[in-house]
Amino acid sequence: MKNVPSVLAEQVHQANLEIHRREAEIYDWVHPEIFGNYEQTRLQHELQYITRVLAGRSELRALDLGCGTGNISLKLLDLGYEVTAVDLSAEMLAVLDRKLAQRGNLKCCLVNRNVEDVLLERGVSNDQDLIVFSSVLHHLPDYFSTVELAYQQLARGGVLYICHEPLPKQLEHRSWGKRVISHLLEWIDLVYIYGVKGLVYTRQALMHRQRFRRMDYSLSDIHLEQGIEPHELEKLLLEHGAEILFVKKTHTHYLSILSDLDERWRLSPASSFRLAARKPLE
Ligand SMILES: C[S@@+](CC[C@H](N)C(=O)[O-])C[C@H]1O[C@@H](n2cnc3c(N)ncnc32)[C@H](O)[C@@H]1O
Repeated sequence: MKNVPSVLAEQVHQANLEIHRREAEIYDWVHPEIFGNYEQTRLQHELQYITRVLAGRSELRALDLGCGTGNISLKLLDLGYEVTAVDLSAEMLAVLDRKLAQRGNLKCCLVNRNVEDVLLERGVSNDQDLIVFSSVLHHLPDYFSTVELAYQQLARGGVLYICHEPLPKQLEHRSWGKRVISHLLEWIDLVYIYGVKGLVYTRQALMHRQRFRRMDYSLSDIHLEQGIEPHELEKLLLEHGAEILFVKKTHTHYLSILSDLDERWRLSPASSFRLAARKPLE
């Protein structure tokens, strides 16, 4: 989506503020598709791979855009990066701040701003070794221009890493048997996530003596339904001279074991993608 009307962009930002204000304290619990073992291991491996690609550079600097409660920032700190973690939501950053205080980690700078504004203000800085969008692009009104702005912040040889983004729904050219299995897995996954969310929200409601209000993600996750086509991002980055390190389409389930099964047996259509691209050295 390009040239999003500013009124819609503002509505998307407001919806994100509201959703993440309400979700911050329980975010890690109600997103097992991110915080489950399977996705955490995959993230760790990919970040280690990218760090090897960046080997030889001194004082690695990273920007974690839409950092949330620190899923990526904390891993990067452990890998020795100096991290700037940006997020629109003060409540999500407060959770990250608490985690940092527990670790006594000081090499992380928290910025409570809109990603687009931060990037526009920085202009073409060419000073970051790694820039990450993890599960963020589908929340941004105009993600193409934001990716372009982010790319301009990369130092020569620096890496842009995008992960956990929804794919457009795939047309199923699959056998009857595979379709039945994939619906069955989807059903098990939904029972699991409704169970998890039911427990977490009930606990929240009891603790804060508030009635649970349904969350509406249609504006905050503006590109979730329609999905994001990685080839278009790839094309954009290639136009800027980037080298594509990998593009992977994966099966994202709430239950880690289902993602694991899918990785081995390809039972369901891929639902999300991850991409890494490097800015040329000269
Ligand atoms: C699904 S969460 C992902 C958090 C984290 N990156 C992770 O991997 O768990 C999306 C995050 O993006 C933030 N966000 C949404 N729109 C934003 C914007 N325009 N600028 C900065 N942060 C934004 C939200 O506040 C939220 O913390």
